[in-house]
Amino acid sequence: MARGLQIRDEESGYNKNLFCIPKHYEEDLERVFIPHGLILDRTERLARDIMQDMGSHHIVALCVLKGGYKFFADLLDRIKALNQNGDKSVPITVDFVRIKSYCNDLPTEEISIVGEELSTLSGKNVLVVEDIIETGRTMKALLSKLRDNEPKMVKVVSLLIKRTHRSPGYRPDYIGFEIPDKFVVGYALDYNEYFRDLNHICILKEKAKEKYRI
Ligand code: HPA
Ligand code: MG
Repeated sequence: MARGLQIRDEESGYNKNLFCIPKHYEEDLERVFIPHGLILDRTERLARDIMQDMGSHHIVALCVLKGGYKFFADLLDRIKALNQNGDKSVPITVDFVRIKSYCNDLPTEEISIVGEELSTLSGKNVLVVEDIIETGRTMKALLSKLRDNEPKMVKVVSLLIKRTHRSPGYRPDYIGFEIPDKFVVGYALDYNEYFRDLNHICILKEKAKEKYRI
């Protein structure tokens, strides 16, 4: 069972003044929670684990937009590095789906999945690349849609998974970090579209939630 790097409930992260943060977000952030460098180090190891399990057949890497785009790009870079430096390699093709399931810091009732023609996944080894899994509700909806197209294999990698009592227990195949039940932003994770342009994963101040609320 995948667990990922465990970040304890008591973990408060790092003083943001010791890191580089865009000026326009300085007053909005409480702490740096997962520094960018640590994200990349963990991603490098995930790439190795994924290639060990899936690296014998053509892989379609399916990016879940928008929150997954940074993790997707960095993970694929690490997979490409393995492909060009190892004894064996496999072709990787990419596809994208757009899912919107949050407004403010709360899940919306409707999950909208907008995407590519998913029939291209038929018979392929599909790696779904997601930013965060909270209840597993979004991922379950996506997986059932993917399975309609009869892929050969589907694996899911999520950079983050939240420990929450709301979770019905869905676990992806690969996990970057397991985090406490706090709203996080940065590294493409957003709050109403803001904070995607921030490298580190950070904790938002309560007053920032007000400031950017819609
Ligand atoms: N941050 C950003 N987006 C999210 C989160 C979060 O903590 N949980 C679910 N979507
Ligand atoms: Mg989001």
